[in-house]
Amino acid sequence: MTTKERVLELIKNEGGKSLSGENIAKALGISRTAVWKAINALRKDGYSISATTNKGYSMDGDYISKNEIEAHLADKNRYMITVLNEIDSTNTYLKSAAEKGEKDGSVVIAETQTAGRGRLGRHFYSDKGGLYMSILIRPDMPTERSLFITTGAAVAVSRAIEKVCGKKVGIKWVNDIFIDGKKVCGILTEGASDFETGRLQYAVVGIGINVTEPKGKFNAEIADIATAIYEKDVPWGIKNRLAAEVLNQFSEIMKAPDDKTVIDEYRARSILINKEVYIIENGEMKTVTVIDIDDTAAIILKPDNGEIIKKTSGEISIKVK
Ligand code: BTN
Repeated sequence: MTTKERVLELIKNEGGKSLSGENIAKALGISRTAVWKAINALRKDGYSISATTNKGYSMDGDYISKNEIEAHLADKNRYMITVLNEIDSTNTYLKSAAEKGEKDGSVVIAETQTAGRGRLGRHFYSDKGGLYMSILIRPDMPTERSLFITTGAAVAVSRAIEKVCGKKVGIKWVNDIFIDGKKVCGILTEGASDFETGRLQYAVVGIGINVTEPKGKFNAEIADIATAIYEKDVPWGIKNRLAAEVLNQFSEIMKAPDDKTVIDEYRARSILINKEVYIIENGEMKTVTVIDIDDTAAIILKPDNGEIIKKTSGEISIKVK
């Protein structure tokens, strides 16, 4: 074990309590300068280690670490991961990199975002407590099939939360993940298409998961509609296992994102089928019943006094009643 790894072990073993530089130095038989250097190296690796005067070093259980995410990846060669402390938006960052030729499989994960973006130009609340990640892919597929990337990502995140955190989740068409009637994750897929070939150049799949509640609770604007996977008793290192499992599931699904079994799973996880909801179309709100989601991920609706209609995600947004 290197000095850095031994320092990490000691801090982790404290389970979030502070450990002084002096005690670390004594325990490992090294100088305090060596401790300080190891702490800096760990921070560079993406570990969020706080230093408090007169107390020492501590780490939150929801820390994000590139090494630990990589350790849980099924295919160690599929993704190139960058972990950042803070960024405006992981999607903005990766889209700009994609335009400059960044490779398929590049992943950016941030502890916080200062300008997190949601669908339809909305702001996405991105305080510490969440897992904010974007995945760059360059699949060889016609642009009109790109909706399957979003539905595939929704299934991947659902499977990952259930497997790693043991929480039952549902999907709210088209890309929100819900726990107990509240939103726990949003997905924003952006990309570019080659107009001559009609094929996708790249897609950036942005996933924002509320793993724990932010320290000061969710702000008033979203407090009634947002939830987190954990209210308390956050398992140590959970974000790393969750991020890796999202990536593992996503790469499996992306082998055939429009496969019937994926869309069947998406449908089976829907929290809207057979429910009355509001749809908002061209600024107008109507009550409808959701009949089904078809194999193209379009939603089939029955308005109160009308014929059955089919809508795609670009046409309407849905509010749960
Ligand atoms: C939505 O709910 O409307 C979609 C939210 C998508 C949020 C994620 S967080 C990581 C990535 N970076 C962003 O700015 N947005 C996505």
